[in-house]
Amino acid sequence: MNIAVVGVGHVGLVSAAAFARWGHQVVGYDDDPTKIAKLQGGEAWFYEPGLDDLMAEVTAAGRLTFTHDPAEAMRDAEVVFVCVGTPPLPGGGPNLSYVEVVGCMVVAHAQRDLLLVEKSTVPANTGRRLEQVIRRESDRLRMAHTIEVASNPEFLKEGAAVDDTLHPDRVVYGTSSAWSRDLLRRVYATLVREDQMPVVETDVPTAELIKHASNAFLATRISFINAVSQICDRVGADVEVVAQGMGHDARIGSRFLQAGLGYGGSCFPKDVDAFAHLARQVGYDFALLDEVRAINVGQRSSVIAKLEGELWHLSGKTIAVLGAAFKPGTDDLRESPAVHLANELWAAGAEVRIHDPVALENLAREHPQLPRAATVDEALDGAHAAVVATDWPEYAALTPEHYRARLAYPIVIDARNLHDPRSMLDAGLLYHAMGRPSVGR
Ligand code: UGA
Repeated sequence: MNIAVVGVGHVGLVSAAAFARWGHQVVGYDDDPTKIAKLQGGEAWFYEPGLDDLMAEVTAAGRLTFTHDPAEAMRDAEVVFVCVGTPPLPGGGPNLSYVEVVGCMVVAHAQRDLLLVEKSTVPANTGRRLEQVIRRESDRLRMAHTIEVASNPEFLKEGAAVDDTLHPDRVVYGTSSAWSRDLLRRVYATLVREDQMPVVETDVPTAELIKHASNAFLATRISFINAVSQICDRVGADVEVVAQGMGHDARIGSRFLQAGLGYGGSCFPKDVDAFAHLARQVGYDFALLDEVRAINVGQRSSVIAKLEGELWHLSGKTIAVLGAAFKPGTDDLRESPAVHLANELWAAGAEVRIHDPVALENLAREHPQLPRAATVDEALDGAHAAVVATDWPEYAALTPEHYRARLAYPIVIDARNLHDPRSMLDAGLLYHAMGRPSVGR
């Protein structure tokens, strides 16, 4: 099939490469000429394990090309995937103006009847708005082609995006006719034949809602275990063992029950807010989601309280913050709990020194006010306390002796529960985890 992918960010680029791998002819379009130039040179513009190899394979086979010209992107397209950003607006809802722009662009350049598929995460009923835009633009431009709208949400995680896309747990698409359903069946035919995963075929609003409900549910799990960690702190229980004990129940499962500094990234914070916003718009107060968000923010406050418990005032104290990325395996700082924490410490008058194995360049660009440390030791040397803010494996390898030798005061706040509390306490550190036995109980 001839497929156009509009927007070559994490979702768009990985999906485009995967469609090409499944045998389709794919063109990736973006309105950012620098991204397109880089991709035309054979290089992804962000880091994602396995992506360069996959791109090399499908571009060598001549099945994936890139263009900055919308007319060229639409020339042969039978199916167009919308993968543009839907960033949050101040009121909690997502900014869907880029999605609207794509709708107009597709009407202006369509060469045949085609299917426009939302892959960007959008609230339920965005498909209806998009159909309205298409109808109006088609009338205005006197275009006779039929353009149908479908929803095909993506469930990839940054850092595991290639594997998640090539071997998803499920494929979900929502369509409004047999014609569009059959087109999407053809898009995924190779994948479904090879991997035999469940396929959910439904209508457009239901598919849109599956995505928001999935992300909101995962965020709820994280906030739930974080709330449990607060109780553990107060009664002297170990949240890691609580999560393990809960996870053995097949109805609960063990994944996404890691307590810590909370969730971040470009998806969970935005999608929890957007889902709550949509609920309110349609007359339902989904207050649970407000609490999910509040618990997430509260995890940072509890780290600050632990620091104040040890250091009294933070003003004038030097704090080593280990980690800036919103999770390990990425240099993405969007809504990173580590960066939020560093900013809050900085605002409280502390001198922060942030280390991250890969995200310092982005930190310098996006948060130039935050001082950076090129190495872990540069962050730790002479600091009054260290906070482990991102669960990078290299921080897990730091020994209690190392912390003792480097820090001015032997205080470690392990906000990602990376270390073994017993050995940290035995080595004489003032060690605080999140909901695990620690000093000061
Ligand atoms: C998330 C979802 O996991 C994907 O299924 C979805 O497709 C994607 O959003 C999206 O909507 O595009 P992602 O944001 O890449 O993927 O990252 P996750 O691995 O889900 O982690 C999100 C945050 O939750 C991170 O800050 C991580 O540290 C935190 N987390 C995760 C926890 O604090 N505890 C956990 O147990 C798991």
